[in-house]
Amino acid sequence: MDARPIGVFDSGLGGLTALRELTRLMPEEDLVYFGDTGRVPYGNRSKDILVKYARQDMAFLRTFNPKAVVVACGTVSTTALDTLRQESDIPIFGVVEPAARAAAHVTGNGRVGLIGTKASIGSGAYERALSRLRPGIQVTAQACPLLVHLVENGRFRPGDVVIETVAREYLTPLRDTGIDTLILGCTHYPLLTEVIAGIMGPAVTLVSAGEESAFELKRQLKAA
Ligand code: DGL
Repeated sequence: MDARPIGVFDSGLGGLTALRELTRLMPEEDLVYFGDTGRVPYGNRSKDILVKYARQDMAFLRTFNPKAVVVACGTVSTTALDTLRQESDIPIFGVVEPAARAAAHVTGNGRVGLIGTKASIGSGAYERALSRLRPGIQVTAQACPLLVHLVENGRFRPGDVVIETVAREYLTPLRDTGIDTLILGCTHYPLLTEVIAGIMGPAVTLVSAGEESAFELKRQLKAA
Protein backbone atom coordinates (compact mmCIF):
# COMPACT_ATOMS: atom_id res chain seq x y z
CA MET A 1 0.00 0.00 0.00
CA ASP A 2 1.17 3.54 -0.80
CA ALA A 3 1.68 4.97 2.69
CA ARG A 4 1.19 8.60 1.69
CA PRO A 5 -1.94 10.25 3.16
CA ILE A 6 -5.13 11.25 1.37
CA GLY A 7 -5.86 14.98 1.55
CA VAL A 8 -9.44 16.21 2.01
CA PHE A 9 -10.62 19.80 1.99
CA ASP A 10 -13.73 21.94 2.23
CA SER A 11 -14.59 25.55 3.01
CA GLY A 12 -15.41 24.53 6.58
CA LEU A 13 -16.74 21.59 8.53
CA GLY A 14 -19.00 20.19 5.79
CA GLY A 15 -16.28 18.01 4.30
CA LEU A 16 -16.10 16.16 7.61
CA THR A 17 -19.21 14.29 6.39
CA ALA A 18 -17.03 12.85 3.60
CA LEU A 19 -14.10 12.31 5.98
CA ARG A 20 -16.32 10.32 8.35
CA GLU A 21 -17.25 8.00 5.48
CA LEU A 22 -13.62 7.71 4.32
CA THR A 23 -12.55 6.75 7.85
CA ARG A 24 -15.26 4.09 7.96
CA LEU A 25 -14.49 2.68 4.50
CA MET A 26 -10.68 2.88 4.66
CA PRO A 27 -9.54 2.74 8.30
CA GLU A 28 -6.01 1.82 7.18
CA GLU A 29 -5.48 5.14 5.32
CA ASP A 30 -3.98 8.30 6.80
CA LEU A 31 -6.21 11.30 6.15
CA VAL A 32 -5.32 14.99 6.33
CA TYR A 33 -8.29 17.37 6.53
CA PHE A 34 -8.31 21.08 5.84
CA GLY A 35 -11.41 23.20 6.52
CA ASP A 36 -10.98 26.81 5.43
CA THR A 37 -13.01 28.14 8.37
CA GLY A 38 -11.35 31.54 8.12
CA ARG A 39 -13.06 32.16 4.75
CA VAL A 40 -16.25 30.07 4.91
CA PRO A 41 -18.73 30.33 3.23
CA TYR A 42 -17.49 29.83 -0.33
CA GLY A 43 -20.90 29.38 -1.91
CA ASN A 44 -21.71 32.98 -2.80
CA ARG A 45 -18.29 33.87 -4.22
CA SER A 46 -17.28 34.34 -7.85
CA LYS A 47 -15.61 31.67 -9.94
CA ASP A 48 -12.30 33.60 -10.00
CA ILE A 49 -12.18 33.79 -6.21
CA LEU A 50 -13.16 30.13 -5.87
CA VAL A 51 -10.36 29.04 -8.22
CA LYS A 52 -7.90 31.15 -6.21
CA TYR A 53 -9.03 29.67 -2.87
CA ALA A 54 -9.05 26.14 -4.32
CA ARG A 55 -5.45 26.51 -5.53
CA GLN A 56 -4.39 27.76 -2.09
CA ASP A 57 -6.20 24.90 -0.33
CA MET A 58 -4.48 22.42 -2.65
CA ALA A 59 -1.07 24.02 -2.10
CA PHE A 60 -1.52 23.67 1.66
CA LEU A 61 -2.48 20.01 1.39
CA ARG A 62 0.43 19.35 -0.99
CA THR A 63 2.81 20.13 1.88
CA PHE A 64 1.70 16.76 3.37
CA ASN A 65 2.72 14.90 0.17
CA PRO A 66 -0.69 13.28 -0.42
CA LYS A 67 -1.25 10.46 -2.93
CA ALA A 68 -4.72 11.82 -3.77
CA VAL A 69 -6.97 14.70 -2.79
CA VAL A 70 -10.73 14.70 -2.26
CA VAL A 71 -12.40 18.04 -2.92
CA ALA A 72 -15.12 17.47 -0.31
CA CYS A 73 -16.86 20.68 -1.30
CA GLY A 74 -19.68 20.91 -3.81
CA THR A 75 -18.86 24.53 -4.55
CA VAL A 76 -15.22 23.90 -5.48
CA SER A 77 -16.11 20.65 -7.27
CA THR A 78 -18.58 22.46 -9.52
CA THR A 79 -16.40 25.49 -10.31
CA ALA A 80 -12.68 24.71 -10.00
CA LEU A 81 -12.20 20.94 -10.32
CA ASP A 82 -11.06 20.99 -13.95
CA THR A 83 -8.46 23.65 -13.19
CA LEU A 84 -7.13 21.75 -10.18
CA ARG A 85 -6.92 18.55 -12.20
CA GLN A 86 -5.07 20.23 -15.07
CA GLU A 87 -2.50 21.58 -12.63
CA SER A 88 -1.98 18.42 -10.61
CA ASP A 89 0.03 15.25 -11.03
CA ILE A 90 -1.94 13.35 -8.37
CA PRO A 91 -5.58 12.22 -8.71
CA ILE A 92 -8.20 14.69 -7.52
CA PHE A 93 -11.71 13.52 -6.69
CA GLY A 94 -14.77 15.74 -6.64
CA VAL A 95 -18.30 15.14 -5.40
CA VAL A 96 -20.41 15.85 -8.50
CA GLU A 97 -19.93 12.69 -10.63
CA PRO A 98 -20.33 10.26 -7.72
CA ALA A 99 -23.49 12.00 -6.48
CA ALA A 100 -24.98 12.16 -9.98
CA ARG A 101 -24.25 8.48 -10.54
CA ALA A 102 -25.93 7.51 -7.27
CA ALA A 103 -28.99 9.67 -7.96
CA ALA A 104 -29.37 8.44 -11.56
CA HIS A 105 -29.28 4.90 -10.20
CA VAL A 106 -31.68 5.46 -7.28
CA THR A 107 -34.45 7.46 -8.95
CA GLY A 108 -37.47 5.47 -10.02
CA ASN A 109 -39.56 8.21 -11.61
CA GLY A 110 -36.64 10.13 -13.18
CA ARG A 111 -37.40 13.28 -11.17
CA VAL A 112 -34.46 14.40 -9.09
CA GLY A 113 -34.13 17.40 -6.81
CA LEU A 114 -30.85 19.15 -6.18
CA ILE A 115 -29.89 21.54 -3.41
CA GLY A 116 -26.57 23.33 -3.13
CA THR A 117 -24.89 26.68 -2.75
CA LYS A 118 -25.53 29.56 -5.14
CA ALA A 119 -22.25 28.90 -6.98
CA SER A 120 -22.91 25.16 -7.32
CA ILE A 121 -26.45 25.57 -8.63
CA GLY A 122 -25.37 28.43 -10.94
CA SER A 123 -22.68 26.24 -12.51
CA GLY A 124 -25.15 23.66 -13.87
CA ALA A 125 -22.51 20.96 -13.23
CA TYR A 126 -24.80 18.48 -11.49
CA GLU A 127 -27.43 18.78 -14.23
CA ARG A 128 -24.81 18.15 -16.95
CA ALA A 129 -23.56 15.03 -15.19
CA LEU A 130 -27.09 13.75 -14.59
CA SER A 131 -28.20 14.21 -18.22
CA ARG A 132 -25.06 12.46 -19.44
CA LEU A 133 -25.74 9.52 -17.17
CA ARG A 134 -29.48 9.35 -17.75
CA PRO A 135 -30.75 11.33 -20.73
CA GLY A 136 -34.22 12.75 -20.16
CA ILE A 137 -33.85 12.96 -16.40
CA GLN A 138 -35.74 15.91 -14.89
CA VAL A 139 -33.76 17.96 -12.41
CA THR A 140 -35.24 20.64 -10.19
CA ALA A 141 -32.52 22.68 -8.54
CA GLN A 142 -32.74 25.02 -5.57
CA ALA A 143 -29.93 27.18 -4.21
CA CYS A 144 -30.02 27.34 -0.40
CA PRO A 145 -27.62 30.18 0.46
CA LEU A 146 -28.49 30.38 4.18
CA LEU A 147 -27.95 26.74 5.11
CA VAL A 148 -24.12 26.75 5.32
CA HIS A 149 -24.15 29.80 7.65
CA LEU A 150 -26.65 28.11 9.93
CA VAL A 151 -24.80 24.78 10.04
CA GLU A 152 -21.46 26.52 10.71
CA ASN A 153 -23.20 28.32 13.59
CA GLY A 154 -24.48 25.11 15.13
CA ARG A 155 -28.10 25.50 14.02
CA PHE A 156 -28.60 22.03 12.52
CA ARG A 157 -30.56 20.05 15.12
CA PRO A 158 -34.11 18.90 14.44
CA GLY A 159 -36.55 21.08 16.36
CA ASP A 160 -34.35 24.21 16.06
CA VAL A 161 -36.94 26.73 14.94
CA VAL A 162 -34.51 28.74 12.79
CA ILE A 163 -33.17 25.87 10.71
CA GLU A 164 -36.60 24.19 10.47
CA THR A 165 -38.18 27.39 9.16
CA VAL A 166 -35.44 28.18 6.63
CA ALA A 167 -35.19 24.59 5.39
CA ARG A 168 -38.98 24.33 4.97
CA GLU A 169 -38.97 27.52 2.91
CA TYR A 170 -36.37 26.10 0.49
CA LEU A 171 -37.60 22.52 0.38
CA THR A 172 -41.40 22.66 0.26
CA PRO A 173 -41.55 23.77 -3.43
CA LEU A 174 -39.07 21.01 -4.32
CA ARG A 175 -41.11 18.37 -2.50
CA ASP A 176 -44.21 19.51 -4.33
CA THR A 177 -42.63 18.78 -7.75
CA GLY A 178 -42.90 15.02 -7.07
CA ILE A 179 -39.19 14.20 -6.94
CA ASP A 180 -38.29 10.81 -5.49
CA THR A 181 -34.58 11.58 -4.98
CA LEU A 182 -32.82 14.62 -3.54
CA ILE A 183 -29.11 15.29 -4.01
CA LEU A 184 -27.52 17.04 -1.04
CA GLY A 185 -25.08 18.84 -3.33
CA CYS A 186 -23.23 20.63 -0.55
CA THR A 187 -21.23 18.64 1.97
CA HIS A 188 -22.61 20.66 4.87
CA TYR A 189 -26.13 19.37 4.25
CA PRO A 190 -25.77 15.79 5.56
CA LEU A 191 -25.60 17.42 9.00
CA LEU A 192 -29.21 18.40 8.27
CA THR A 193 -30.30 14.91 7.23
CA GLU A 194 -32.95 14.59 9.95
CA VAL A 195 -34.34 18.06 9.30
CA ILE A 196 -34.42 17.55 5.53
CA ALA A 197 -35.86 14.02 5.71
CA GLY A 198 -38.57 15.29 8.06
CA ILE A 199 -39.66 17.85 5.46
CA MET A 200 -39.27 15.69 2.34
CA GLY A 201 -40.96 12.61 3.82
CA PRO A 202 -40.15 8.92 3.43
CA ALA A 203 -40.85 8.75 -0.34
CA VAL A 204 -37.76 10.85 -1.14
CA THR A 205 -34.30 9.23 -1.00
CA LEU A 206 -31.48 11.54 0.06
CA VAL A 207 -28.12 11.25 -1.75
CA SER A 208 -25.12 12.74 0.05
CA ALA A 209 -22.52 14.08 -2.39
CA GLY A 210 -19.69 13.86 0.16
CA GLU A 211 -20.41 10.28 1.12
CA GLU A 212 -20.69 9.18 -2.51
CA SER A 213 -17.26 10.68 -3.22
CA ALA A 214 -15.82 8.48 -0.46
CA PHE A 215 -17.28 5.34 -2.10
CA GLU A 216 -15.82 6.47 -5.44
CA LEU A 217 -12.35 7.01 -3.98
CA LYS A 218 -12.38 3.57 -2.41
CA ARG A 219 -13.33 2.00 -5.77
CA GLN A 220 -10.57 3.89 -7.59
CA LEU A 221 -7.83 3.11 -5.06
CA LYS A 222 -8.79 -0.56 -5.16
CA ALA A 223 -8.64 -0.57 -8.97
CA ALA A 224 -5.23 1.20 -9.08
N1 DGL B 1 -19.43 22.39 1.93
C1 DGL B 1 -19.40 23.39 0.89
C2 DGL B 1 -20.07 22.81 -0.35
O1 DGL B 1 -20.12 21.59 -0.45
C3 DGL B 1 -20.02 24.64 1.43
C4 DGL B 1 -19.75 25.81 0.57
C5 DGL B 1 -19.76 27.12 1.29
O2 DGL B 1 -18.83 27.34 2.05
O3 DGL B 1 -20.66 27.92 1.03
O4 DGL B 1 -20.50 23.49 -1.25
